[in-house]
Amino acid sequence: MSHNFEVPYEADFHPDVDGLADALARLVAARSATGEPHVDPNRNLELPRVLPEEGLGGRGALDLLAGPALEQVSRLDHRGFLAHMDPPTPWPTWAAAQWGAAVNQNLLHPDTGPAARQLEPLVISWLAPAFGMDGGHLVPGSTVANLTALWAARDLTGACRVVTSTAAHLSVAKAAHLLGLELVEVPVDDRQRMRADLLPDDLTRSVVVLTAGTVTTGAVDPLEAGDGAAWRHVDAAWAGPLRLSAHAGILAGIETADSVAVSAHKWLYQPKESALVFFSDSDTAHRALSFGGSYLAAPNVGLLGSHGNAALPLAVTLLSWGRSGVAGRIEADMATAELFARLVEDHVVLELWGQPVTGVVNWRPAARDPAEVRGRLTDAWISLADIAGTPWYRSVVANPLADPQHVIDRVIDAL
Ligand SMILES: Cc1ncc(COP(=O)(O)O)c(C=O)c1O
Repeated sequence: MSHNFEVPYEADFHPDVDGLADALARLVAARSATGEPHVDPNRNLELPRVLPEEGLGGRGALDLLAGPALEQVSRLDHRGFLAHMDPPTPWPTWAAAQWGAAVNQNLLHPDTGPAARQLEPLVISWLAPAFGMDGGHLVPGSTVANLTALWAARDLTGACRVVTSTAAHLSVAKAAHLLGLELVEVPVDDRQRMRADLLPDDLTRSVVVLTAGTVTTGAVDPLEAGDGAAWRHVDAAWAGPLRLSAHAGILAGIETADSVAVSAHKWLYQPKESALVFFSDSDTAHRALSFGGSYLAAPNVGLLGSHGNAALPLAVTLLSWGRSGVAGRIEADMATAELFARLVEDHVVLELWGQPVTGVVNWRPAARDPAEVRGRLTDAWISLADIAGTPWYRSVVANPLADPQHVIDRVIDAL
C-alpha cells in the first residue's frame, strides 16, 4: 500500500529565488552606501527580547536583521578605516560563503563532504611550500591554529613548557594553559622583537613560539631562534601571507619551524573564520591529532568535529587572483603603510613610533591624549595600542581601500 507523505515545511528548504535576489540586492545597496567607518558599539539592537512564538517567515526575518547585519557595522572597506587586522573581503568569497551555507557539507565524514574533503588539502598544498611546510589543515582562527600546533608539539615531544616573548598574542598563553604547559615569557627589545639572547639555555623540553607580526606593532621575532628546542612554532597569524609576496624575506627563517599558524581572515582577505595550521611533517603531526570513532569512515584530525567547507572562499580568492595577484595586493598594502608613516613624519603635531615592518603603523598625536582625540574622530577610524606602557594608535593596513591622507587629515581635524 502506498502512502502519500506531505512534507510539512518543504518550502523553507527550497530556494525562494526572489527572496534570495532581494537579500543580494540589499547587500549590494548596503555595501555601496557611504557611512561612518565606526558605529557606536553600545547602540541597542531593535530586535525582540524574547523568542517570538510565531515566525516572521524568511523574508520577514531578513528584513528585521538587515539593519544589524548590514548597516550597524564597522565599515572595514571605508577609506578612513585603518585600524584592526580585519580586511574587507573580495566579492567572490561572498558567493562562495553562500554556496557553502546552502549545501552545508561536513568535512568530518566522506559521506557529507566528498569534494570538500579533497579541496582543503589541495588548497593547503598550494600554500604550504611558501612556509617550508609539507601540509596542514584549516581551522577557524590562529587561536585554534596555535593551540593545535602546541598540542601536536606536546604530544610528539613530551615538552612541558612554552617559551615565547612578552609581545606574543594572548592565544599562546591560552593554549599553554589549556594544554597544562608552563608559560615562560622572554623580554622584547625596543622594537618589540624577542630577545633571543635571553632564551633559557636548556630548551630540550620547551616549545619555542616565535611571532611573525606581533598584534600590537607587527614586529617579527628572529625566526631562527630557539635552536635546540623540542619544537619551534611560528605564529604568523598576521604577517604570514608576506611569504607569497616580494617581501617574503622579512619572514626569513620561518621555513625552519616545525609548525606555522596563519590567519587567512587577516591578510588573505578571507571572511571569518578562516586560518591555517601548517606542519613541516604533517603526516606525523596529523597522526598525533587523530581520533577514530565508530561511525567515522576516516579519522577525525585536529580540534574540530563537524566543520564546513572553509577552503571554498579561500580557493575562490586564490584562483581569482593567482599567486601574483595575492602578492600585488599585499605589496600595495605594504606601500600604503610606508606612505602612511611618511605622512605622519611630515606633521610636527604627530609622532611615529617607528617604521612599519609588516604593515602595522603605530603613531600618536605628539601632545594630546590619543584616546581623547580618537573619541572626536569622524569619517575615519584607528585602533589603540599600549606599547611598553604608553598609549599609541595602531593602524593596520589590511584595508586595500584605505586612504592614508584622509585618515591623517581627519585626525588633524580632531586635535
Ligand atoms: C600574532 C597573533 N596571533 C594570534 C592571533 C589570533 O588569531 P585569530 O584572531 O585568528 O584567532 C592574532 C590575532 O590578532 C595575532 O595577531
